[in-house]
Formats: sequence, structure tokens, C-alpha cells
Amino acid sequence: MTDAQSYMGKLITIDRYILEQQQSHPEATGTLTNLLYDLALAAKIIASKTTRAGLAEILGSAGEENVQGEEVQKLDAFAQRTIFRLNDHTGRLAVMASEEVEDVIPIPERFSVGPYVLVFDPLDGSSNIDMNVSIGTVFGIYRRKTTTGRGALEDVLQPGRALVAAGYILYGASTMMVYSTGQGVHGFTLDPAIGEFLLSHPHLMLPAKPKYYSVNQGYQPYWAPGVQAYTAWLQHDTPEKPGLSLRYIGSLVADFHRNLLAGGVFYYPADHKDPQKPGGKLRLVYEANPLAFLIEQAGGYASDGARAILDIQPEQLHQRVPLFIGNRILVEQAEMLLHQQDATVAA
Ligand code: AHG
Ligand code: MN
Ligand code: MN
Repeated sequence: MTDAQSYMGKLITIDRYILEQQQSHPEATGTLTNLLYDLALAAKIIASKTTRAGLAEILGSAGEENVQGEEVQKLDAFAQRTIFRLNDHTGRLAVMASEEVEDVIPIPERFSVGPYVLVFDPLDGSSNIDMNVSIGTVFGIYRRKTTTGRGALEDVLQPGRALVAAGYILYGASTMMVYSTGQGVHGFTLDPAIGEFLLSHPHLMLPAKPKYYSVNQGYQPYWAPGVQAYTAWLQHDTPEKPGLSLRYIGSLVADFHRNLLAGGVFYYPADHKDPQKPGGKLRLVYEANPLAFLIEQAGGYASDGARAILDIQPEQLHQRVPLFIGNRILVEQAEMLLHQQDATVAA
């Protein structure tokens, strides 16, 4: 596999790059490659709407129709429909699952099913749309587990360790698509002038020296003592690292992306603020697992505070999980302090 250096300065589209990666797998049929193409296309279509999201109200304020005669849709419903409609008929998927849909999404009977499973959060951070803060899409791809019939919930509830690919799209100052098929993490930036994602960040690896910690400190009064101790550790110079700066955007994909490039840890711990969300807010299947796959590919680690996110056997489609994700040294420190706290409480 060529390294980052060999790609520097070369003009490479995401389609070319995905194809080159496929070539190192002679047994590949091209189905996964085409699935990744479809997701890159979905990204471009969603990006075309996010750049004028704020206008949706103005354009669509004349009743249900906007000036283009399109039905005005909330952006996350639009993102959901776009990803579904690009993937329901291709014969590449056995089943899909989305944050926006209560149950698994079957492939319509009129279309054939395929060997892969797509899980996704069509629009992450949607509460930030009106404030023009970066938002994202998160996706994970599995091979189906069931061998007969059309796909089922069992195909979606696989541990993250079984992912064959994962990635995200970040709709920010520029639109980026970052993905991995298990051969490193690669970032592409959309050039809107030509409508192409161009390779901009080959072989992304977490910097060894972390810079930021990211957490919603507003919930500090509701954290367990171990999380309080962990946050203090992050803020102080220690032999392993300098005291870290706090950066929290409140948009998971944006917070994750910044830490991937600069080094650091993002955590959304369990807190006892909202009895509905005792196990943290983020969802295992289509938020934590795909990002945990990526961070391990980039040399980092993701944990629920006790064990690797990727080793958790999902029980429900929308189950929530505490998430600590970033530099391994930082995440393992969280596990150690939370374990110490549990031991103290148990004593
Ligand atoms: P979504 O918009 O898909 O529901 O996800 C929102 C998540 C995630 O983007 C972010 O990390 C988190 O909500 C922020 O939650 P708080 O506002 O509680 O910090
Ligand atoms: Mn989300
Ligand atoms: Mn969402």
C-alpha cells in the first residue's frame, strides 16, 4: 500500500482512489467500491442543500413549495431520503438502518438484495443547522450475516469489529468525505466548481501529541466522580501530556474531525442529568461504531469507559453508549480512572 507521501500533490478524485484501493484486493467484486461511490454522490447532493439550509425557510416560506417547486423538507429528512433513494435499488444492500427510522429499513420487494448492510446517521448535529455550525453524516458498512431471505435486524446488530468500511461527511467551511476500508483513513475535499471530491488528506494518522479535549462541560455536575477526575487530569500538565485546551462544537462529526487532525479526546460520558439517557446520548450502531472503526485505523482507540466500543455486541438498534474516543493514551486513562472509581464505590 502506497503511503501518504506518494500521493502528495497529485490530483486524485475519490472514485479513482477507491478503485486503486480495490485493486489491492484481487478477490473484490467492485460492489463495495460502487457502494462508496453512491455515498460520495449522496454527500454531494446533501452538501448542495446544506450550503443554503438557512434559505430553506425563506425559499419555502411561500407555503409548502419553494421557488424551485420542491417540497420543503427538513434537512435531516432530506438527507435520510437521499441516502435511502441512492441505495434502495442498486442490489448492493440486504438491509439499511438509520437514526431517523425506528426499525431496520428493508430493501423494497421490487429490488434485489445484495451482500452489504448500511447503517447511518443521515444528519448529525442537526440542532446546529440554524446556527450555521458544521454538521455531518456518519456511515458504517457490514457484510450481511444472514444467509437466506432479505436482510434482517441481525445483520445490523453486528459488533463494530465486523465493519468492512466506515466514514463520515463533514459539511463545514468545505465539504469533506473521510472514509476507511481497513487500509488507513483517507480524506477528500469537495471542489464545488467541478463537483469532485479530491484527495486532500491521504493516510490520516492521529498526531502523537494531543491538543484538545472535547466534552459538554455543562453536564459536569451530573458526572460520576471518575469522569470529574478524568477531566481534571486532562486539564493539567502530566508526564504523558501537557494540559489540554477545551474545544466543543456540539456537532459530533466536527468535534471528531478536529481531534483526528490535531490530536485529542472527545467524550460524551454517562451522566445522571436525563433519566432517559443514563448511558450517555450517542448511539452505538451508527455514531460510535463507525467513528471507533476510523479512530483505530488512525492509531487511536474508542471505549465506553470500560471496554472497546468495537467489541460491544449491540442489543437494540438505537441503543446509547458512553463514548471516549481519540488518542489511545487519553482514552485508556479514562478507563483507568473510571475503573478506580468503581473499585472505590464497591469497597
Ligand atoms: P444528532 O443531531 O444526530 O441527534 O446528534 C447530535 C449529537 C452529536 O452531534 C453531538 O455530539 C451531541 O448531540 C451534542 O449533544 P449535547 O448538546 O448534549 O452536548
Ligand atoms: Mn447524530
Ligand atoms: Mn442525526
